[in-house]
Order: sequence, then structure tokens, then C-alpha cells
Amino acid sequence: MKLNIQPTQKEISLGDDDVIVSKTDLSGRITYVNRAFMRIANFSEEDVLGQQHNIVRHPDMPRGAFKLLWDTLQQEREFFGYVKNITSDGDYYWVFANVTPDRDASGKHIGYFSVRRKPVKSAVATMQTIYQEMLAVEKSSHAAQAPAASIALLQSKLKSMGTSYDRFILALQEH
Ligand SMILES: Cc1cc2nc3c(=O)[nH]c(=O)nc-3n(C[C@H](O)[C@H](O)[C@H](O)COP(=O)(O)O)c2cc1C
Repeated sequence: MKLNIQPTQKEISLGDDDVIVSKTDLSGRITYVNRAFMRIANFSEEDVLGQQHNIVRHPDMPRGAFKLLWDTLQQEREFFGYVKNITSDGDYYWVFANVTPDRDASGKHIGYFSVRRKPVKSAVATMQTIYQEMLAVEKSSHAAQAPAASIALLQSKLKSMGTSYDRFILALQEH
């Protein structure tokens, strides 16, 4: 269930030591959240357990960003990215996320694990502009093609900079 939360312009900043953790099943349904998640997103455990992770999806995020996330995970690679999320009050918080497979004791792949930290300010500024451009492309594309169209824009930018998505994202966080 995606809640229809009205976005505000208020930013909630993560502290330097905040680590927001959640786990999902293979379909992106939340199976665990830590205290930092509940405090910053302002959701209780009961609100989020069993819900799809798009419960914190912010409308400023392009669909292509999440297609990239899922495509990467399906290729059994870990994902790094900057994400603008929404709180239960409509406020927003930016994170630098690392999503990896979650395995049980026997090594069976049971879901995903996301660990998020405070992003570098300049990285957020860069990604905000890129996401706005990706959103604009999505708005002018047919719905079914929108995520692929915005990823194509991102890839062409990376190509003209002579870099790859992972190298670009990780370098942004080092500034
Ligand atoms: C482990 C994991 C963590 C995720 N964390 C977030 C998150 O913090 N914010 C978010 O918007 N989507 C997150 N997603 C992606 C969502 O599952 C979903 O693809 C995204 O919100 C887009 O939803 P929509 O297709 O309904 O628009 C996560 C997915 C996984 C597997």
C-alpha cells in the first residue's frame, strides 16, 4: 500500500553517525527496520512491516532510479545510489544507500538489505539536478517506456563524462 502523503519542503538531515537499515523479501516487502529508520522516516514498525518499500518513495524520484536498482540486484550486483525519501509527515530526507542480497544461514537468497548513511551535500546537489532531468524525460515519454528513457539519459551523461554509474556515484560520496 502506497500512502498518499502530501510532500512538504522541509528537509530532515541525517546525523553523521545515523545508519538507516531495512531488509526486504525478494519482492521489496519490508521485513525489518532499525530504530534510525523509524525515527527519521517517522513510521512505527507496525506501519511498515509487510509493506512494499515504496512506502517512503518521494515523488521527486524518477522511476528510472528504481529500475536501475532492481536491474542491478537482479544481475546479482550490489547497488549504490542517492535516494530522496519521504517521511510519514511529508518531509524529505536524502540518503546514500547500499543495497545488497540478504541470505539465510544456509546461504539461500531470501531478500535484500539496505544500509543508508548521510550523503555528502555536493553529491545531493548533483543528483538532484540529474533526477530532475530524468523526471522531465519521464514526463515526456510514454509511461511504459519512461524508466528506460530516463536511464538512457543518465547513461549518455555518464558516457560523455567517460565514467560508469558505480564509479560516478562512489566518487560523489568521496568529496
Ligand atoms: C532493500 C530495498 C530497499 C529499498 N529502499 C527504498 C527506499 O528507501 N526508498 C524508495 O523509494 N524505494 C526503495 N526501494 C525500492 C522500492 O522497492 C520501489 O522499487 C520504489 O520505491 C519504486 O516504487 P514504485 O515502483 O511503486 O514507484 C528499496 C528496495 C529494496 C529491495
